Amino acid sequence: MSSERKRVRKAVLPVAGLGTRFLPATKAQPKEMLPVVDKPLIQYAVEECIASGIESIIFVTGRRKNAIEDHFDSAPELERFLEEKGKSHQADMVREISGGLHFSYTRQSEAQGLGHAVFCARELVGDEPFAVLLGDVIMDGAVPATRSLMDIWDATGQGAIAVEEVEKARVHLYGIVAATHGNQPRWGDQLLRVNDLVEKPPADKAPSNLGVTGRYVLPPEIFEYLETLEAGAGGEIQLTDALKELAKGPGLWAHIYEGKTHDAGDKLGFLKATVEFALKNPKLGPDFRQYLRELKL
Ligand code: UTP
Repeated sequence: MSSERKRVRKAVLPVAGLGTRFLPATKAQPKEMLPVVDKPLIQYAVEECIASGIESIIFVTGRRKNAIEDHFDSAPELERFLEEKGKSHQADMVREISGGLHFSYTRQSEAQGLGHAVFCARELVGDEPFAVLLGDVIMDGAVPATRSLMDIWDATGQGAIAVEEVEKARVHLYGIVAATHGNQPRWGDQLLRVNDLVEKPPADKAPSNLGVTGRYVLPPEIFEYLETLEAGAGGEIQLTDALKELAKGPGLWAHIYEGKTHDAGDKLGFLKATVEFALKNPKLGPDFRQYLRELKL
């Protein structure tokens, strides 16, 4: 690794979307605050940042999203109350939510797409590489997905995105990559060179079945590409279109994540994540498993 190469220290978490797939639950509360077992969705992404060695988080928020700021702020009255009641374990849990990270916030005044949301963070990111995590996707595995992408950046100085194989029937819901073997012995078949990307193609026009899952490590040049973009698929400014430029210019890697990806921004994905995390929960798991066995389906 070159001594000149900047480390990835910051992560951008865009949370300004309208969450229409979860209406009416998301009319007045952020989708990112819906709980999976006992933690809001967004906390899983923040924990991934902590585990990956990120130091600073930039939320791109919008109207009706104040609950996210409150969740990661300190809560002295609550902590004092819990301490006084002898619930110091719970007080510690509340204190540790922010994990010692630095949080900053910027607004996306209108939900004009993921690319636009990332562009809104340009001043706070500055001239350094950064991670992007979609807060409604939980990546669950031995190595945090963002850490894997940061390692690729450290080794190559090029951006990287997480991908996974998606069923043919779901290809039209994803950004899909056209990619070839990366020829990087350290990563073997897990690392691919991205040649092109297509946003939400029909299954018969998709260049592969590898879908972009919601974790990215990007160089600051991405902002130059985003700045010149016109609205793309769905009338939104698509991050995929800027990634395309990155792939054609400085280069972009696709990393096939070995863990499990839960698209919890979708109702079925959310339910599956809830069931799987409940089963894994040391306190709830055994009783919940028993309950599922006894269900007359
Ligand atoms: P999604 O497309 O999953 O979220 O974007 P959405 O638009 O809120 O949901 P639906 O499709 O209407 O149900 C992935 C992430 O990007 C953020 C969302 O908040 C979500 O966490 N996002 C999306 C923005 O911050 N701004 C946008 O303009 C679009």
